[in-house]
Amino acid sequence: MTPKHLVLETVSPGIAIVKISRREALNALNTETLTELREVLRAHSADESIRVVILTGDGDKSFIAGADIAEMKDKNSNEGVWFSQLGHEVTKLLELMPKPTIAAVNGYALGGGTEMAIACDFIIASDKAVFGQPEVGLGIIPGFGATIRLAKFVGYPRAKELIFSGRRIKADEAFAIGLVNHVYPAQELMTQVIELAKTISQQSFAAVTKSKMLMNEFSESTGLNFKLDAEAHAFGRLFGSADQTEGMSAFTEKRKPAFQGLAKDTQS
Ligand code: CAA
Repeated sequence: MTPKHLVLETVSPGIAIVKISRREALNALNTETLTELREVLRAHSADESIRVVILTGDGDKSFIAGADIAEMKDKNSNEGVWFSQLGHEVTKLLELMPKPTIAAVNGYALGGGTEMAIACDFIIASDKAVFGQPEVGLGIIPGFGATIRLAKFVGYPRAKELIFSGRRIKADEAFAIGLVNHVYPAQELMTQVIELAKTISQQSFAAVTKSKMLMNEFSESTGLNFKLDAEAHAFGRLFGSADQTEGMSAFTEKRKPAFQGLAKDTQS
C-alpha cells in the first residue's frame, strides 16, 4: 500500500530515502505515520538490494517536530505506554537493522524528532537544523528513546541538561557537542548525505553490516528492551496528570503552560 505520510525514493542502486511528509504539522509523528514508518523500515531492513537507509523530513522547515501533540493530548496512561512502544518499534528498526541508517536533519528535530535522529547510526544536519527535547515543557518525558540514547551521542551531563531544560540547540552547537557528524548549507544537505551513502554502499556489504552489528553489541544496546520498556511505562504514567493535560492544552491553545508541581508518581 502506498503510504500517506511518507515519500519513498531510491537513489542510485541500494540507497533508500524515507521522507516524513506531514507538512501541515511540521512532519509531527501521529499513530498513522509511525505505523507506516514501521512497515516501510521493516521492508527496507529485509530488502537485500538496499544497503543504506536515509531518514529525512519533507520541506525546508522541519525534519520531525516531535510526536503529534494534538493526538497525544487526550491519551490516558495505557494509551501513552502503547504510543511510546510504537515509537520504540520504529527506533529499534532504525538502530538495529543490519544496514546503516543516516538521519539527514533538514530543520526542526524536536522531541520525537531528535529521538528518531539518534536512533539512526549517525546524524548529518543542515545549517537550519534545530534539536531539542521539549517534553518537560509539555508535562511529560521523552518517550521515543532519548532517556536511553541521547547520552550515547552527547554524554550524560549534556543529555540531562537538554532533557531537564527543554532547551533548543542549533546545528553549530549540535556539532560542537557531538550530536551531529557534519553540518552543511541547507541546499547541499541531501547531495552530501547521498554522496556519503554511496561511499558506504560501495564497500563490502557483509563487512559493513558486521561492523554495525558488533558496534551495537559493544555499546549501550545491551539491555535495550528493558530500558525502553521502563521509559514507555514512565512516559505513560504521566498521561492524565494535571501537568500533561495543562502542557499539551497550552500548546494547542498557543499559550504558556501553568504547571502545578510534582507528578503523582514522583511524590514520595
Ligand atoms: N504536534 C502537532 N502539531 C504540531 C507539532 C507537534 N509536535 N509541531 C508543530 N505542529 C503544528 C502546529 O500546531 C501548527 O499547526 P496550525 O497551523 O494548525 O496551528 C503547525 O504545525 C505549524 O507550527 P507553528 O505554527 O507552531 O510553527 P512555528 O514556526 O511557530 O514553530 C515549532 C515551530 C518551534 C517547531 C513549534 O511548532 C513547536 O514548538 N512544535 C512542538 C515541538 C514539540 O514540543 N515537540 C515535542 C512533542 S512531544 C514528543 O515528541 C514526545 C515524545 O518523546 C514521543
